[in-house]
Amino acid sequence: MVIVMAPDATSDNIDSIVDLVASAGGAAYVTRGVSRTIIGLVGDVQRFGSLDLSALPGVADVLRISTPYKLVSRENTTKRSVVRVAGVPIGGDHMTVIAGPCAVETPEQTLEAALMARRAGASLLRGGAYKPRTSPYAFQGLGEAGLKILADVRDETGLPIVTEVVDAGDVELVASYADMLQIGTRNMQNFALLQAAGEAGRPVLLKRGMSATIEEWLMAAEYIAQRGNLDIVLCERGIRTFEKATRNTLDISAVPVAQALSHLPVVVDPSHSGGKRDLVLPLSRAAVAVGADGIIVDVHPSPETALCDGPQALTGSDLDELAHLAATLPTLVGRTLT
Ligand code: E4P
Ligand code: PEP
Repeated sequence: MVIVMAPDATSDNIDSIVDLVASAGGAAYVTRGVSRTIIGLVGDVQRFGSLDLSALPGVADVLRISTPYKLVSRENTTKRSVVRVAGVPIGGDHMTVIAGPCAVETPEQTLEAALMARRAGASLLRGGAYKPRTSPYAFQGLGEAGLKILADVRDETGLPIVTEVVDAGDVELVASYADMLQIGTRNMQNFALLQAAGEAGRPVLLKRGMSATIEEWLMAAEYIAQRGNLDIVLCERGIRTFEKATRNTLDISAVPVAQALSHLPVVVDPSHSGGKRDLVLPLSRAAVAVGADGIIVDVHPSPETALCDGPQALTGSDLDELAHLAATLPTLVGRTLT
């Protein structure tokens, strides 16, 4: 059950609902939006029914939601959310390109990749300072030194930063540099991390677990929302299947399915799903055509020396093609490049 508060609801109105729900043996999670506050209720719905919640001061609406995820559900709302990352919109009629190096390696490499990203139509810079690697012997990222490089490059280029956090204990530090936190496929069900990200005061890019169903993905988003943060963007990045020709299988149908089930924007990562440079542009076209709210793409000035995922990084003339795609395709599906 979700309570939507009236725009003029007071803090006292909200507090008394939280107390009332607690006295009925439930829990109330308050999410304060720009214009509205919503309260998600957990507990015995039958008992809440007897509280006559809709008659309480400050309550605009009480919604029964049948899906297991409540705050991120699209049930009862026709409106799709627009998430703003340092002013850059993702969702609505926008098509947003996020691009940058897979990993931050040096100041020069990051700046060069950021300039490439901007040339290719990106309005947000991606780049990992904390890398979740399969092998403990592989490059793990520069940590805080990488965050500092990203911050310098943001100052130089004006591109806000999207960067991954892999540990709940690092959320505060990463959020102090990042404009948007990324939670990667391997951590989609790291519940302590999701909750910490929900409290960090930054928008979150939540990648789909490589073996997660769409419902599990939305339940993961619900963990973030329940902590008061509804600025969540879902990212389809490919799932594990029997197919070995690609690194992962891009589940393109997940885009319209997730958009139908949730009001959150959905973007696609054609780089990590295909895992091969030659697949990135075709998968990007598919993403825009299917109605994705954006794409997140790896670029690198010299992929052959990249410390992570070089084979999937766009470079050189690929960038012109990405720029062309970004400038032409979105308008065909009723969107404007951010
Ligand atoms: C990239 O961003 C990830 O860290 C990378 O895809 C991990 O894969 P690997 O460690 O198996 O190379
Ligand atoms: C990434 O985008 O840097 C990344 C690690 O991606 P994923 O979690 O999708 O593998």
